[in-house]
This record gives sequence, C-alpha cells and structure tokens, in this order.
Amino acid sequence: MIAAYQARCQKQVDAALEPLFTAPHAELERLYAAMRYSVFNGGKRVRPLLAYAACEALGGAPVQADGAACAVELIHAYSLVHDDLPAMDDDDLRRGQPTTHIAFDEATAILAGDGLQSMAFDVLANTRHNPHSAEIRLSMFQALALAAGPAGMVGGQAIDLGSVGQQLQQPALEVMHRHKTGALIEAAVRLGALASGRADEQALAALSTYARAVGLAFQVQDDILDVESDTATLGKTQGKDQANDKPTYPALLGMAAAKAYALELRDQALQALQPFDEAAEPLRELARYIVERRN
Ligand code: IPE
Ligand code: IPE
Ligand code: MG
Ligand code: MG
Ligand code: MG
Repeated sequence: MIAAYQARCQKQVDAALEPLFTAPHAELERLYAAMRYSVFNGGKRVRPLLAYAACEALGGAPVQADGAACAVELIHAYSLVHDDLPAMDDDDLRRGQPTTHIAFDEATAILAGDGLQSMAFDVLANTRHNPHSAEIRLSMFQALALAAGPAGMVGGQAIDLGSVGQQLQQPALEVMHRHKTGALIEAAVRLGALASGRADEQALAALSTYARAVGLAFQVQDDILDVESDTATLGKTQGKDQANDKPTYPALLGMAAAKAYALELRDQALQALQPFDEAAEPLRELARYIVERRN
C-alpha cells in the first residue's frame, strides 16, 4: 500500500515542481539546470509524502497540499546540495549521481542551493501554487522559515559540523538530530495539516507529537543505514559518518540499541495518531516505512 501511495504522491509533487525550473533568461540556464539537477535526481520525496498524508489525515484533498509538498522538498534539496559541499560533508555521490558541486561547480552549487531556498518561500507566498487564505499562507511561511533556519535545520547543521570528532552524550545528539532533520520533517507535517484548512490546535498538537518522533526516527535510521547499507543501495557513499568522525546513534548506543530506539520512536509516533481515524493510515504507514527503509 505504501509503495502505491508513494508512487502517486511522487508523481503529484514532481508535476507541481516541474514548471518551476524553466529559466526566465538564457543567461540563467546553467543555474536553473543545476537547481533542476538537484531536485529531479531520484529523491524518495519523504517530506512531500508526509505533507500530503497530514493533509489527508484531516480530511483535505491531496491537491490542497501541493504548495506545502513543493516547498518542503525545495528546502530539503537545498539542504542536501549544501550538506554535500567540500566545506561540509564533502560528498561526491547523492541519489546515485555526482553531487551538484561535482556535476557543475562549487559556486554554482552554492547558488543553486540559495535559489532553491528562495523558491520554496515564493511557492508558499504565491496563490498560484498555494491557493489558501493569506492567514494560512502566513502560518505555513512562518513554520517553514522557523524549521529551515538557525533555530531549525541550519542550526542543526552548525551543531553537526561543530561536533566532528566529539563524543556527544545522548541528549546532545538528540538536540542535533531534532534540529538538522527533525525540524523540517515536523514542518512537512504541519504545512500539510494547515493546507487541509481544518487544522485546529488539538490536531496540530497530536500531529506535532507524531512528527517529532518520526523526524528523530528518520535520522536514527539514516545513521544506521550509513553503517549497514551499501553505496549502490543508498545512492550515497556508505560509511561517511565514520570516515568524517560524526557522532551518530549507532556509534553512541551500539547498533542493536540504535535499532530498538528507532522502533520505539515509531511506536511513539503511532501512539500519537490514536485519536485519528483511517484517514491517517498513510501517516501510520509512513512511520513504519521510515524505520524499515533500506535507502
Ligand atoms: C537525507 O534525506 C538527508 C537526511 C536528512 C538524513 P533523505 O533520505 O530524505 O534523502 P532523499 O531525498 O531521499 O535523497
Ligand atoms: C543531513 O544529514 C541533514 C541535512 C541535509 C539537513 P546527513 O549529512 O546525515 O545526510 P546525508 O547522510 O549526507 O544524506
Ligand atoms: Mg551532514
Ligand atoms: Mg551528509
Ligand atoms: Mg547521513
């Protein structure tokens, strides 16, 4: 079921993203090509899936969440382009292809990331992509800005880079993961919920508990796969966390305890969805998928 849901949502978000990458001037073709390359290279689209599923859980139609889905994926794509730069994780493989700074050049990759980030906010502000009331659009805009910025993903990346070679204790590792990965995943769920037009405080609180658990589980599983998977399956170089001396859950807790923790977080996420009916089934399936995925 999740595979079919995934395929449908991937098609939907890709169709909504596609028109954004036509260069408005011939001089900008290389920049737009680099942005397109960074978005259309086989990502799993987990954050758009979460946005669609949250919208549906509250009784919204998937199409209402197109803007939310595009915006979170654009921020995610930008974060990966910058994460792979030589000054950060220095990776040359992403989604089975050369990273953007290898396929183009470093300056173009930096600008492509910057461009993708701006584009995400334009999509949310624009009624063409995000046809909601000004109030809802502003709430979405603010949630994404907070999640992507220094109190969210960017802050998490700063903690990550500052932690190289250090022995973090579990609370500090959790803070890092909640910022660098959890914040954007939480925003994906929140934006999707807001896009339904039916998000009251109680629903938002329950969905936020779900998203915090799933967001942390996602990065715990990413750390596990970096050790256990292989480069061909991952589409990124296996073993880079250890090579870069990054603090991770398997390194801190051991592999068995890291896996048990991922499952515990999945159960916390499912627990938070108890008040919801079968419309939340895709969200439940996604929580299971996130800790079972192999790439
Ligand atoms: C990888 O994210 C980076 C992390 C935040 C762990 P994904 O595993 O969602 O990457 P893609 O988009 O599918 O390539
Ligand atoms: C990346 O975490 C998180 C963000 C891009 C914000 P990682 O550095 O672990 O992601 P991968 O493993 O390179 O995809
Ligand atoms: Mg990184
Ligand atoms: Mg990385
Ligand atoms: Mg990783």
